[in-house]
Amino acid sequence: MPRVGIILASVRDGRRGEQVARWVAEAAAHRTDAEFELIDLRDHPLPHLETEKPALLTRGAYEDERTSAWAAAIAPCDGYVIVTPEYNHAMPGSLKNAVDHLYVEWNDKAAGFVSYGVDGGVRSVEQLRQLCGVLQLADVAVQASLTLADDFEDRTVFRPRESHARTLDMMLDGVVRWSEALAPLRSTATRPAASGATATDAATAETEIRTRIAGIIQGIRAKDLDALRRIYAPDVVSFDVEPPLQHVGVDAKLKNWARAFTVFDDVSYELRDLAVEVGGDIAFAHAFGRLSGTLATGDRTEGMWVRGTFCFRRIDGAWLVVHDQASLPVDMQAGRPVADLEP
Ligand SMILES: Cc1cc2nc3c(=O)[nH]c(=O)nc-3n(C[C@H](O)[C@H](O)[C@H](O)COP(=O)(O)O)c2cc1C
Repeated sequence: MPRVGIILASVRDGRRGEQVARWVAEAAAHRTDAEFELIDLRDHPLPHLETEKPALLTRGAYEDERTSAWAAAIAPCDGYVIVTPEYNHAMPGSLKNAVDHLYVEWNDKAAGFVSYGVDGGVRSVEQLRQLCGVLQLADVAVQASLTLADDFEDRTVFRPRESHARTLDMMLDGVVRWSEALAPLRSTATRPAASGATATDAATAETEIRTRIAGIIQGIRAKDLDALRRIYAPDVVSFDVEPPLQHVGVDAKLKNWARAFTVFDDVSYELRDLAVEVGGDIAFAHAFGRLSGTLATGDRTEGMWVRGTFCFRRIDGAWLVVHDQASLPVDMQAGRPVADLEP
């Protein structure tokens, strides 16, 4: 089933956009042909684009963890509904800036639009359609355009005219159908044959893996066990720093995380020197990782750096962790782990 992200573009205090996005999400919730989730740009406060290389060239290898988190929200979606206002006859800067931070994450997917404003926000959508061309994002023609005079009581409380519900549904039909129709293109790009795989295929696979790893970091920070579950294979074998010698199966792996989450009140995870190698349907990655935060006791801990290895297998088109290990070096003479090394 396709996954569709409803992107709320306005980040303004007192934004009307929240009411509009809620209306879209409520209509989407009645559908059984796709899964929908709200992606609020306020949850992704990105800096103004300042990287030297455009995302078109870096292809998912983002250094800034805010960009990685944004990529982790956008990449898993098969299509999007962009809920946008119009500012000075243009799309909001928050939206354009967020779009520009990524590239491959948008490719070969579908997008539909809900706009609002004094004049219905139509010029904002015209600009977005122009952007869709270069992003290789298929834009659905039907759009819902809402005006402050006719669709907001006292120009404040959202009360859309009845006809908009049907338009919205038609637009969602289009996004879902095109998201499905473009799936073979996405899987061609991400499924290199064991022989004859192109550099682009491998780069796209690497992007997906980096996005998965960013998803682990995001899942830990949010203490979101469901999000973490989606990243591991059901039969993952994990050699974690904590005993026992191995955790077999995703439930055992998550039990370990659940235990860690009770120790921390507020938890953060930092990753350094991430390297990824892809070969066919198998890939591995290594990095240094550190768990830190505020303990349930109220004390702050900076944690310790561990060596981490992630082994991925592509299963039914999705890269999943089938094995991981986290370890500390051992002082062989003292027989003790060394926990104060830094990358
Ligand atoms: C800086 C600014 C410029 C605006 N320019 C336009 C415009 O060109 N066309 C339009 O239809 N509405 C325009 N509006 C009205 C907005 O569409 C309206 O305030 C809308 O609620 C903004 O969305 P938001 O509340 O979710 O941020 C503008 C609003 C702002 C704040």
